[in-house]
Amino acid sequence: MTSTPLDIKIQPSLLACNMGKIQQEIDTIDPFVDGIHFDVMDGQFVPNLSFGAPVLHHLSTTTELGFDVHLMCENPDILLESFAKAGAKAICVHVEACPNIHRTLQVIKSFGIQAGVVLNPGTSYASAYEAIKSADYVLVMSVNPGFGGQKFLPEVLEKITQIRKAFPEKNIQIDGGINNETAKLAIEAGANWIVAGSYIFGSKNREEACKSLKL
Ligand code: DX5
Ligand code: ZN
Repeated sequence: MTSTPLDIKIQPSLLACNMGKIQQEIDTIDPFVDGIHFDVMDGQFVPNLSFGAPVLHHLSTTTELGFDVHLMCENPDILLESFAKAGAKAICVHVEACPNIHRTLQVIKSFGIQAGVVLNPGTSYASAYEAIKSADYVLVMSVNPGFGGQKFLPEVLEKITQIRKAFPEKNIQIDGGINNETAKLAIEAGANWIVAGSYIFGSKNREEACKSLKL
């Protein structure tokens, strides 16, 4: 087990909030978190739809929090510019969806924002090594993407340990099934950006829930 020296950041996933009043939902957690995780689904790469750049544009102008965009899309290249213009501070793309991942990451960086790569539970660290090298951060999925509220897959912890060992300075994001117990396991393995949807927005006391993820 290795503990990361990097700052731990809590990034709630809006997928689990009340979609009819997203702005007010952000207000309830704004002081207790370090950023917002914005899950974009296209109904192709994953069997679900969420929201797009116009929604991000509205939200990003009404809070100081930075938004990191997680593109669960079959052809993310056609979306990069619109999300960058809508105010994304970081965009990550799935290695499984990008035949020219190095170019895709370069395009994201050309907008002056951080570029991340995402590894599904079925994707090995070794197969994604070159992509991780070129990225500013790496998102390790701890559920199969597409839906909130799924159970954490502990087998991905080994992958986090491998990445942390090879890249001590890189931010590693964990996403899926995160609560106060699984966050601890992920942080111990080397993750430092913590995404949580259901756990935060489903809690009666959201302040406590956010704080409990850093303990
Ligand atoms: C899953 C998304 C996650 C998800 C996390 O496809 O990428 O961000 O919303 O939700 P919870 O925390 O409920 O697993
Ligand atoms: Zn996500």
